[in-house]
Amino acid sequence: MECFRIVGPTRIRGEVTASGAKNAALPALAASLLSEGPLELSGLPAVRDIRTMRQLLGHLGVESEEQGEVVRLQAGEQTHFDDAPYELVKTMRASILVLGPLVARLGHARVSLPGGCAIGVRPIDQHLAGLEALGAEVQLEHGYVSARAHRLTGGVFRFTAPTVTGTENLMMAACLARGTTVLQNCAREPEIRDLATLLRKMGAHIEGAGSERIEIEGVERLTSASHRVIPDRIEIGTYLLAAAMTGGEIFVRGAISADLAPLLEKLAASGCDLEASNTGLRLSRAGDLKPRDILTAPHPGFPTDLQAQYMALMTQATGQATICETVFENRFQHVSELARMGADIRINGAFAHVHGPTPLSGARVMATDLRASACLVLAGMAAGGETIVGRIYHLDRGYEQMELKLQQLGARVQRLPAEPTRAA
Ligand code: UD1
Repeated sequence: MECFRIVGPTRIRGEVTASGAKNAALPALAASLLSEGPLELSGLPAVRDIRTMRQLLGHLGVESEEQGEVVRLQAGEQTHFDDAPYELVKTMRASILVLGPLVARLGHARVSLPGGCAIGVRPIDQHLAGLEALGAEVQLEHGYVSARAHRLTGGVFRFTAPTVTGTENLMMAACLARGTTVLQNCAREPEIRDLATLLRKMGAHIEGAGSERIEIEGVERLTSASHRVIPDRIEIGTYLLAAAMTGGEIFVRGAISADLAPLLEKLAASGCDLEASNTGLRLSRAGDLKPRDILTAPHPGFPTDLQAQYMALMTQATGQATICETVFENRFQHVSELARMGADIRINGAFAHVHGPTPLSGARVMATDLRASACLVLAGMAAGGETIVGRIYHLDRGYEQMELKLQQLGARVQRLPAEPTRAA
């Protein structure tokens, strides 16, 4: 199994370009099922989750080809394929995003219950209840969801709690429903706004995406469109945190500050200098780091997808920082690995108390999920000596060419084909 070998400490210094957002690209790809096409998407990051979604779409009969940076998807008539099998869905929870478009366009779908990161139970009950509110008949059997509807009908649905892919799934389904749909208590992430922009280009009538209430007036059919996905705010945040943690300086080209506000506020408060421009965002840190508490929450709260990386940063702050994880119930798996590198972190339910600063020392650690892996890479760059991060297939799900980007920033990070038998 491939791993990263990191030799630290390093100071991150230089410029990096943001990749397209994985979490915007996944629903954009699924949207190709909504029309005969073609749908032309650019800015898709070269990461494993995107390859998995394209494979799934291929299985569902969507033809895709690459023309330079543009991926051209054509669902065509789409009358036969409605089955998303376990083998494809198990590695990626976001596969559930094909459910809404398939039911809306074909009138039926059979999708395996998803797998994905081991960061909690993560049910899909809201996706299903929402489809039922639009008139679909939903059944769960043998690990599969089957949904049917002659034609979906607009309705009112209130999410019990905001869900990102749930909001996206229903937004896509409602585009082709008869009549008007009102979704309430929706997730407000920038990726949802981006999907609405794409759907509108395809001819959908959507208002309010990015707010708590989204209204969609169904249309008979959607058409072809071209779209570039927004930059990846989680990738950008990860690189900013890398520079902050190593006392370095970075310019991230393509960063949209407004979408990163909750992180930027904490970085500024903890002693980093930030400067936003039309082309990107610059961060530097020269002085000590101050501890700052965070509480993860749906957007515009602090993103749970940056919690692990922020925790790595707080190990270098002077004093105690408390991190409260409210979105997922099992998202502290990086803590025991950070402890192996010398971090002093105590967990109490949904709270992690980080005491710093602790000098980190290189160790063998194991990635457990996508963002936990990124946290260990940051810690490895700040730590003295050699760190081996195992199971980086998790990282490859969501970070495009991470080792190359970090090398460009001066880090000593190498991808090894297998874990060395003995740590140096
Ligand atoms: C998306 C992101 C993921 C991010 C997460 C939260 C994508 C592809 N993935 O995941 O990177 O970590 O948002 O920002 O965009 N829930 C239910 N019932 C449901 C759906 C969700 O109880 O039907 C719960 C989940 O268990 C979780 C919370 O709602 O506790 C938020 O999950 P959700 O927003 O749905 O996450 P994803 O859309 O899967």
